[in-house]
Amino acid sequence: MTGSYPGFSWRDAGPGEAGLLSRLAIAGWRQTYAGQMPSSVLSALEANPHQNPASWERRLARRPPDRWTRVVETEAGEPVGFLWFGQEEGRLPGYRGEIEKIYLLKPAQGRGLGRALMADTFRTLESVGLSPVVIWVFDFNRKALDFYERLGGRPLGRREVVFRAEGRDFHEIAYGWPPGGLAASNG
Ligand SMILES: CC(C)(COP(=O)(O)OP(=O)(O)OC[C@H]1O[C@@H](n2cnc3c(N)ncnc32)[C@H](O)[C@@H]1OP(=O)(O)O)[C@@H](O)C(=O)NCCC(=O)NCCS
Repeated sequence: MTGSYPGFSWRDAGPGEAGLLSRLAIAGWRQTYAGQMPSSVLSALEANPHQNPASWERRLARRPPDRWTRVVETEAGEPVGFLWFGQEEGRLPGYRGEIEKIYLLKPAQGRGLGRALMADTFRTLESVGLSPVVIWVFDFNRKALDFYERLGGRPLGRREVVFRAEGRDFHEIAYGWPPGGLAASNG
């Protein structure tokens, strides 16, 4: 499955791209959470069992509609982001689809690409009945919260601790879209 937006395109990740996805995920965390997460966490991501290539090998082994993994590239073929999404895993009754990760590196942000990727992702999920859709997001990631609200997502009132570091709990909150996704929202 492929798609495009002026200057960029995306495609399903290939089986040998765990290393690339790990690098993109780590770069995405460092750019996004610098100053918001302890540097001890951000400097150790290569060894983190949720970020290392082995974790991406396991993710790549999961196939649609359980999970899709997509790589976003410039016209020149330079990777600038990725998505990981699919069937909701039972954390939130009533929601069937989940966008687990959407990360664009800074040069690819603020150009409308995120909106185009979200629209395409909702189309994919809805085409296989995985709607309504939920996203979990760190509660301090104000830019992402604003982006989801701009696209019609609404906080669902669920907040959970996802990890603890340097004596601090890190929480995610859930954002949901109504059936029909972006098309049914003001996004
Ligand atoms: C969040 C992210 C996917 C958004 O993608 P993007 O390409 O930067 O966003 P777009 O340019 O497509 O913006 C789409 C709309 O959201 C709005 N928007 C984007 N960021 C915003 C912000 N911080 N505050 C308010 N509105 C925002 C835009 O103004 C735009 O509105 P419009 O289309 O009505 O004019 C991207 O910035 C990113 O990857 N950030 C870092 C990683 C991250 O936080 N991922 C989410 C983890 S859960």
